[in-house]
Order: sequence, then C-alpha cells, then structure tokens
Amino acid sequence: MDQHHSNCEKGYKPLINLNQIYNEDCCAFMDRLSAQKILLDVIVTSPPYNMNKEYRSYRDNRNEEDYLTWLENVCRKIKVGLKKDGSFFLNIAGRPSDSALPFKLVTRLTDNVGFKLQNTIHWIKSISFDSEDVGKKNGIHNNDNVSIGHFKPIVSARYLSDLHEYIFHFTKTGNVKIDKLQAGVTYQDKSNIGRWKTAIEDKRDRGNVWFIPYPTIQQSRPHPAVFPVKLPERCIELHGTRENMLVYDPFMGVGSTALACIHLKVNYIGTEIDPQYIAIANQRITAYIQTNPSLRE
Ligand SMILES: C[S@@+](CC[C@H](N)C(=O)[O-])C[C@H]1O[C@@H](n2cnc3c(N)ncnc32)[C@H](O)[C@@H]1O
Repeated sequence: MDQHHSNCEKGYKPLINLNQIYNEDCCAFMDRLSAQKILLDVIVTSPPYNMNKEYRSYRDNRNEEDYLTWLENVCRKIKVGLKKDGSFFLNIAGRPSDSALPFKLVTRLTDNVGFKLQNTIHWIKSISFDSEDVGKKNGIHNNDNVSIGHFKPIVSARYLSDLHEYIFHFTKTGNVKIDKLQAGVTYQDKSNIGRWKTAIEDKRDRGNVWFIPYPTIQQSRPHPAVFPVKLPERCIELHGTRENMLVYDPFMGVGSTALACIHLKVNYIGTEIDPQYIAIANQRITAYIQTNPSLRE
C-alpha cells in the first residue's frame, strides 16, 4: 500500500492524494473525483441517519423529504464515481418509530438512481439465545440463555431495543462477482469438507447475518455514531481485495473505514465536514500504524 498521506499513484492525476481524509463536503469532493476521472472500487459508508444525533457540525434533523432527497443526490454521485464492477455498501438504520426509512431510501436508489440491490446484510450488534438451541459442539450449555454484545436498552413500553442495522450492497448491474470466501468462515462440522462439490476447503460463505459487537471501551466515545472497524473491513473483503484498489468513505467520521483499509493494505480516501473528527481519525491512524510495525514500511 502507498504510505499514509503519500502522493498519488501513477494513473491518478494530482490534486487528490490517496490515503487521506479531506475536510470537504462529499458531493463537492465527488465532483472533483469525476473531473479527475478517478473511479472507485468500493464505497463503504454510514451517512447520518436523521435521528437527531449530536454531531459537532452536521444538524441531524432534516425533514424526511429533504433528507431522502439529499441522500439520493449523494448516491447519484456515488454511482458516477463507482467502477462498473464496483460495490457500494450503505450502512443505515431506521428508528423504532420509523423503521421503514431504510426501505424508502432503497426504493429511491433502485427506482430513481438505477442501482441494483445485490445483497441485504443484517448487522447484529447484540444477540441472545437459549442454550438448548445451540448445536452440541459449541460448548455453551451452562446457562439458560446466553447474551453477547452490548447495547443501550430502549426506554419504551412499545418498542424492543433495536439491535440491528442494515448494510445494503448496491452494484451497477446486480451481477458483480464477490469474494464470499475471503469474508467466509470455517466449517463447524469438518466432515462437510469434501462432501459437497463446492466444499473443497475449510471455508464457507458467512451468509448475510453479521454479528459484530461494539468493542468495549472505558472512556466516552469521541463521536456519537461510529461503526466498528470490522464492519467496513468485512464489506471490502466481500467485494474482494486487489492490488491498487481504491476505497472511498464519503462520511468518514473518525476514520473507521480508513483503519479497515490500512489493515487490509488497500488505498482509501475519505471526506468529513468536521475538522475535529478528522483530527481524531488521523490520531487513530497514527496510533494504529505505530502499534503494527508491518504497516510502516
Ligand atoms: C454516521 S457518521 C459516520 C461515522 C463513521 N462511520 C465512523 O465510524 O467514524 C456520519 C458523518 O458524516 C459527516 N457528514 C455529514 N454531512 C457530510 C457531508 N456533506 N460531507 C461529508 N461528511 C459529512 C458527519 O459529520 C458525521 O461525522
């Protein structure tokens, strides 16, 4: 991978450097990308959800029509910037009182923008299950039930705590080959290997339910709506990593997608309107590179 904050690679025109987060509105930045004919392999992002979150700069309380129209326009630009065989992963959730919002957006992106919805992935943040429902080989049999992952319980007599979000995988054709095994899991029952024509190694499709808990941290979070680094990482792996590929996160926040890219040794660019979030992202990136010597060369 190019070093962090390095200059453009051969093939990309100057002005936009790889492995950098720009303090710029994502739409203006994508116009610059398209003027420079820079195309993207993967876009993975989580926009504001219009849930009145307290971001430092962005006001997260538009009226719904304005919000959907704004995101539709952002996604039009994303479609222009995406390669023909690229992947656009959109992480979004509704509110318990408006749980249909993600589907309203999906309908606009398919019907108005022309994206194909290739996969719908459920990101599960916390899960509870009864021990009797776990297969015998999993070793979880001591308690009546098991809960994994943390969340802030909802204060409501009507709604359940919302423990999942969507990751919509959009492509231009609906026919982009993905790397299911790079993002795959090993077989629990090894006797399956070789039994089926497709099971030639100890790796299988992970499916579209991804359990990714938030890591436990002792201090308060520096940003009100981050996703775990594993989330963009798994999306990029599912698309498939290649040398010289380029990943863009239009709503970079505190740099989770950048960290995923550094871990996977692929190039990234990002935009974020709040300079303080970018400063935190750059601190996280520097700390990550310092603690992983193999990334420094
Ligand atoms: C849900 S957060 C993304 C958090 C990120 N995934 C992370 O893990 O740190 C959305 C971010 O979009 C930023 N934002 C809002 N409008 C923007 C715009 N027009 N262009 C770029 N960033 C924007 C907000 O400041 C906020 O940090």
